[in-house]
Amino acid sequence: MKDQYQAISGQYSHARKDDVTVFLETPSVESALGDIVGASAIDYACGTGHYSRLLKKLGANSVLGVDVSPAMVAAAQQAESENPLGIVYKVSDAATAAVFGSFDIATAVFLFNYAKDEQTLALMFDSVSANVIPGGRLVAVVPNPDFINGRNDLVAYDYVLEEIGQGPENLRVRMSFIGDDFSIEFTQWSRRACESALEQAGFVDAEWTPFAVSKEGIERYGRKFWDAILANPKSVVLSARRKPG
Ligand SMILES: C[S@@+](CC[C@H](N)C(=O)[O-])C[C@H]1O[C@@H](n2cnc3c(N)ncnc32)[C@H](O)[C@@H]1O
Repeated sequence: MKDQYQAISGQYSHARKDDVTVFLETPSVESALGDIVGASAIDYACGTGHYSRLLKKLGANSVLGVDVSPAMVAAAQQAESENPLGIVYKVSDAATAAVFGSFDIATAVFLFNYAKDEQTLALMFDSVSANVIPGGRLVAVVPNPDFINGRNDLVAYDYVLEEIGQGPENLRVRMSFIGDDFSIEFTQWSRRACESALEQAGFVDAEWTPFAVSKEGIERYGRKFWDAILANPKSVVLSARRKPG
């Protein structure tokens, strides 16, 4: 599999400090996680470790970050060696059903958009399910299935999204980061495809939660600045619970 993150792991860490990540996405994930003090957590598609570190800072007892890209895992390990939090990182493909243990909580921020087809999407949800205890939770961030392409309304937040392909249950999208001069490509799955894969993997209570801006984001830029992205968000929190035993 081609690793589109091989060449950009350094730039990606920098891109993770942008306003949408800091004031919208991260607080929205934090709120969906709720109280995780003492929990064991697995962070799928951990990348450079942004959410693995959040899990630990929110009080998770143990955190395992897994990602298919050796370059991203090396960047996460580098951050861990510079500021040790006790997070373990491993290279692993989430579509191979590897079992690492029984975790109370799994996060998967921008994993499922790397499933190239519905079979891979199902395998990814199966992998997560196999690593979560009955009653345990999955908190994911996925491209918003209702995103309206072509409005160019994300430019104010330094993104441009272009539709580059289409399947029966998905859109292929290229996202360019203005100012950082790189782009990534991903798949925006339909609500139906995500919910059906979740259900087949043994998850219940699927919830789609729109992002909310943090108090700090409103203080920094004012409420109006956020109107466009809140009206047409590019991503959304998808959470679910593994069917209790
Ligand atoms: C947009 S980045 C998100 C990283 C991190 N979750 C964050 O929010 O900063 C997507 C990550 O998914 C990883 N990824 C893609 N396909 C994967 C797979 N099959 N298994 C595990 N990780 C995968 C990529 O290597 C990349 O690090």
